[in-house]
Amino acid sequence: MNGRDMNTVNIVGGRIVDSTTDAQGRPADIHIVDGRIAMVATPGATLPAAATVLDASNAVVSPGFVDLHTHLREPGREESETIETGSRAAALGGFTAVVAMPNTDPAQDSRAVVEFVREQGRRAGLCEVVPSGCITVGRAGEHLVPYAELMKSGVTLFTDDGNGVQDPLLMRRAFEYSSDLGITMAQHCEVSRLTAGAVMHEGSCCSHLGLPGWPAIAEELMVHRDIELVRITGGRLHVLHVSTARSVDMIRAAKADGLPVTAEVTPHHFTLDDESLRTFDPVFKVNPPLRTMADIDALKAGLRDGTIDAIATDHAPHADHLKEQPLDAAPPGMLGLETAFALAVGELGMDLRSVLACLSWNPARIAGIGDRHGRPVAEGEPANLVVLDPGAAWVVDRGLVASKSRNTPYHGRSVTGRVRHTVSNGRAVVIDQVAQR
Ligand code: DOR
Repeated sequence: MNGRDMNTVNIVGGRIVDSTTDAQGRPADIHIVDGRIAMVATPGATLPAAATVLDASNAVVSPGFVDLHTHLREPGREESETIETGSRAAALGGFTAVVAMPNTDPAQDSRAVVEFVREQGRRAGLCEVVPSGCITVGRAGEHLVPYAELMKSGVTLFTDDGNGVQDPLLMRRAFEYSSDLGITMAQHCEVSRLTAGAVMHEGSCCSHLGLPGWPAIAEELMVHRDIELVRITGGRLHVLHVSTARSVDMIRAAKADGLPVTAEVTPHHFTLDDESLRTFDPVFKVNPPLRTMADIDALKAGLRDGTIDAIATDHAPHADHLKEQPLDAAPPGMLGLETAFALAVGELGMDLRSVLACLSWNPARIAGIGDRHGRPVAEGEPANLVVLDPGAAWVVDRGLVASKSRNTPYHGRSVTGRVRHTVSNGRAVVIDQVAQR
């Protein structure tokens, strides 16, 4: 085979930062053949020729990002996103894998739907689409899904996201299965009796605006319940979109007790607070709601000390005609894939390597795909990589997003940190910020 064959890529002039390096990383050139890293060479060494050469000068080469929390909307809600448009947004955001949330129509509670989602991802060919499975049939909270069945289709992360599982007995049984089968239950922590009709965080801003409030305790009760259920069952819990300071405290204590609990936080929960709702703009309505500055400080502290393992987007596209309704009628959710890296690197005050841990190798492990994502950049490893300009400034423009929907709360915001190239399964799917398919 000749080095100029289509399936070869060189990445030259960059500095590798991965789980084996320090924050400074090490300069290296990379040669990729047939989806794998074939050579990591000292800069200036001659690499075999390649069909595609990616310039990484003044840039960082890292394992690709893994999003634990992406709503792709297909099947059933293709007016807002499809697996193809969502995967394109993911690739542009530096993600080489996304976990697809199950609140599709039909929901991801059967092998047929799960395999459909995976296959559509394969066809789009922009990143790996990893379907989650529901905890309960139809996400209705009444009957458990046959987990072992879905495991045959490769599912290891189960969630009713969009809904929390309200029934403690059912959740106890789900954790018992989790323990037996070695799978993870990812909980959307929300006691729904406490949030009916709510549009924003319950606090002084909400009282001032006279809007129905969404109390922190609605999340914290379920975080507490599930941690205690894990303690008696040995099940594995991942807490989705943590939003309150007390939740962070409880997760920190659970980890100190050695319980198998992991957690994620979204960029919007550490960059925006409930004051945004003073605009009455539904683009700021999200579940769980934007909280207070004190909560933001606690989320950041949780990321810094490792209580929170991952940054996950909760990318939740909604078509204009759905989102642009009065606050009470508009669905909750905001875009996240294309802005996650910039918000994380620009706003957290963490060193780059720690940010990459939260965006890449930690979530890869939680998603059960650590054999192919978040890997060290080394010979023989799968080529799922991203090339980053951590210092590049740009302005978010809702008119330029790749997502089919435009509900970004960051329109017009100046941010720092940009994805230059993305290599998914050995193919350059983003080159110089342009998607190649
Ligand atoms: O804001 C949200 N939107 N939170 C969720 O849990 C669900 C999501 C959606 O599907 O739109």
